[in-house]
Amino acid sequence: MRLLFVLLLTALVHLSSALMFYPEQLRLSWTEREGEIRVTWVTYTGTESWLKFRPLLCSLHADFVTVVGSYKIFNEGSHSVPRFQCIHTAVMKNLNPDCYYEYLVGNNMVWSSRHIISGRTPDYELPHQDSEHPVALVLVGDLGADAFAQPTIDLLNEQAILRNFDAIVHLGDFAYELDDNWGETGDMYFRMLEPLISNFPYMTLPGNHEDFMNYTHYKERFTMPINTANQGSGYFYSFDIGRAHIIMMNTEVYLSTDMQEQKANQLNWLIEDLGKANNERDVRPWLIVMSHHPLYCSVDFTMAELNEDCWDEAEILRRELEDLFYENGVDIYFQAHVHYYERNAPIYKNQTVTCDYEDDLTCVGAKAPIYITSGCAGNRKGHRDHISRTPQLWSRYASNHFGYGKIVVQNETHVYWEEYSADSKAILDKYWIVKNSPRY
Ligand SMILES: *[C@@H]1O[C@H](CO)[C@@H](O)[C@H](O)[C@H]1NC(C)=O
Ligand SMILES: *[C@@H]1O[C@H](CO)[C@@H](O)[C@H](O)[C@H]1NC(C)=O
Ligand SMILES: *[C@@H]1O[C@H](CO)[C@@H](O)[C@H](O)[C@H]1NC(C)=O
Repeated sequence: MRLLFVLLLTALVHLSSALMFYPEQLRLSWTEREGEIRVTWVTYTGTESWLKFRPLLCSLHADFVTVVGSYKIFNEGSHSVPRFQCIHTAVMKNLNPDCYYEYLVGNNMVWSSRHIISGRTPDYELPHQDSEHPVALVLVGDLGADAFAQPTIDLLNEQAILRNFDAIVHLGDFAYELDDNWGETGDMYFRMLEPLISNFPYMTLPGNHEDFMNYTHYKERFTMPINTANQGSGYFYSFDIGRAHIIMMNTEVYLSTDMQEQKANQLNWLIEDLGKANNERDVRPWLIVMSHHPLYCSVDFTMAELNEDCWDEAEILRRELEDLFYENGVDIYFQAHVHYYERNAPIYKNQTVTCDYEDDLTCVGAKAPIYITSGCAGNRKGHRDHISRTPQLWSRYASNHFGYGKIVVQNETHVYWEEYSADSKAILDKYWIVKNSPRY
């Protein structure tokens, strides 16, 4: 009897330690180097960080390459109620865009399941081999880790089977909140999204809901491309892919008084990055900026209390950023935060700047940034902001469905955008943005 008990106990200890070692919450991201994809994952006890990957379905030999990464210990709880997790990361290198890859992570004893991913990564180096291939990015804003997010996650999972996009871009506001319940809400979020983000790079920027303890959960849980200015914070960075240069930036610094230093730091970087992008504009004519807070969304003037996101806060952002975007020939600014969808015309100083040709499906020859809000992926309270009953003159299409969008940089002259409803699973809005002459 006693022996049985000891055996049982030993088995239990082994089982639970295997669980503690089991890699979970896998997610991918592109890095600051071409041909790389970073894998990040979590275990609840310290253990080795192994990554194995091999090419599939291409002319390369399908031999496994092993990488030994590293982990850091993150207290996702609080000072008084600490909860520790180990966040591991390891990087696949020399990926070939013409191959698929199979990868798994673990400690060399306990392994995750296998994942199949595309070898497409940013192409920073010129001339680049891959620029003629269209690139498609799914765009999500204000999601959450609950039932309100589920229709969006379901549709994303369905779209993931079709693999008709290259990566997922998230414009801030993740789990409502990553830090809630001593971080358990954040863990739940990553588990909910794992089928997606372990199979596609997940590129992020911070929103207002990540502000707890100086954005600690955002900074620690995500690893985005690193540059000297961001020092690995993931607050702002850029990447080149296909015919586009994509800038991901942090608009929180403009709406918070205690982030002056970070604001100046980001601005210096942004000016330099826009300059670099414009030097290579002949190769990458599309310059696209993404962030959390809107510069232009329609205020409802019938409301006694004006929507401050689109009114005074947008005004602050316009004062800080609009001229910089306009003068550098930014083509599109994607924004979230407001829980609806709105696509606007090209705008400068609150005035429509007419396209050379415009109809419901097309703008040819825009001469100012086009502003698109897609902040309706889910969010905690299932709260959809109502769309303005007094749409401003530049507003072209608005809806307060739940859903998300996809941008396809087709080639040097054509960008295609579509917004989906997660409820009806249909395309709600689609639009071609066409260049007839260089913007810069
Ligand atoms: C946040 O950062 C500021 C400036 O670096 C620092 O003074 C403050 O103590 C930090 N707060 C927390 C909660 O970490
Ligand atoms: C922007 O233009 C609209 C008309 O489209 C006007 O109602 C609104 O007051 C203007 N906003 C600002 C901040 O000037
Ligand atoms: C770019 O893509 C559009 C839409 O698919 C197509 O009509 C156009 O011919 C393409 N242009 C070039 C230069 O390939």
